[in-house]
Amino acid sequence: MTAASASAVWRNRAAATVCRPCTTCRSRHERAVGDLPMSIRNLGYLVFEVVELEAFAAFAADMLGVEVQQRGEDAVRMRIDSRSWRIEAQRGPRNDVVAAGLEVGAATDLERLERHLAERGTAARRDAALARERGVTGLSHCSDPSGLEIELFYGATEENHRPLRTPLGHGGFVTGAQGLGHMVLKTPVPERSAEFYCEGLGMAVSDYIPLYIPGRPPAELQFLHCNSRHHTVALLGMPDPKRLAHFMLECRDLDDLGRALDRVQAADAVNATLGRHTNDGMLSFYAQMPGGIEVEIGFGGMQVEPQAWSVVRHEKTSRWGHVRRRR
Ligand SMILES: [Fe+2]
Repeated sequence: MTAASASAVWRNRAAATVCRPCTTCRSRHERAVGDLPMSIRNLGYLVFEVVELEAFAAFAADMLGVEVQQRGEDAVRMRIDSRSWRIEAQRGPRNDVVAAGLEVGAATDLERLERHLAERGTAARRDAALARERGVTGLSHCSDPSGLEIELFYGATEENHRPLRTPLGHGGFVTGAQGLGHMVLKTPVPERSAEFYCEGLGMAVSDYIPLYIPGRPPAELQFLHCNSRHHTVALLGMPDPKRLAHFMLECRDLDDLGRALDRVQAADAVNATLGRHTNDGMLSFYAQMPGGIEVEIGFGGMQVEPQAWSVVRHEKTSRWGHVRRRR
């Protein structure tokens, strides 16, 4: 089947399913960040639950090169920049992301966002105990339409008095205003998910890419931004018990990407080969962490100007590379 005919088949099938957002819903999301009075600023942190906690922590230290801190017997936290932590892994059965922390600027922004979500029918609940646990000043949490716990927060703990201690001499990751990186979420209700992240949380569409996976119905990726990172959240319209497709960390130095690739190849843990994405231009590869959690290690992703961005569509996810390994 040619690419053109495959695309035609996808379009015809999509017309009879709810997999693809309808044009009316979609057009509402295709506006610039800042057009709504409130918006999240970035992806601040991720919380995972993994069965093999020690193996997960060892992979993070030895393959990704992040600083790992033990928290009792059943949790570890990972630092990648001046924040006290960016990734937490807890011992548990799910082998998946269990919470995503989305950062707002200040207390008034969190209050405005809570009111806005309530008007849209989503109750975000303040939780002082969870805020203390996460090391943030204020936190309010709710669920996204696929059931992922979303923690809206401000006032994270900075530890720039304590230099990052990467075990492999890593040059660091691109964070700051762009946040931790990005997460790609699988959702059985892509229209509702897009509405939650765009109309609810103030994100905006970057672009769309159809996705063809052998043995699966055609699906689509929607890429959403809330700062200059090309996408902070991407939504994959696909029902799956696991919510996370992958998360991404972006190296500051190309050599750190290359060295990580060497290490992951030697550990036989490459999920997709080195390649460059069409939409954000990220040079990257994908690795399988213990528990089947996939991480993309990238370098050189493009930055967008949210107020000047035009939504586009790509037919392929990669310009070259990113050849998937069958496991
Ligand atoms: Fe990615």
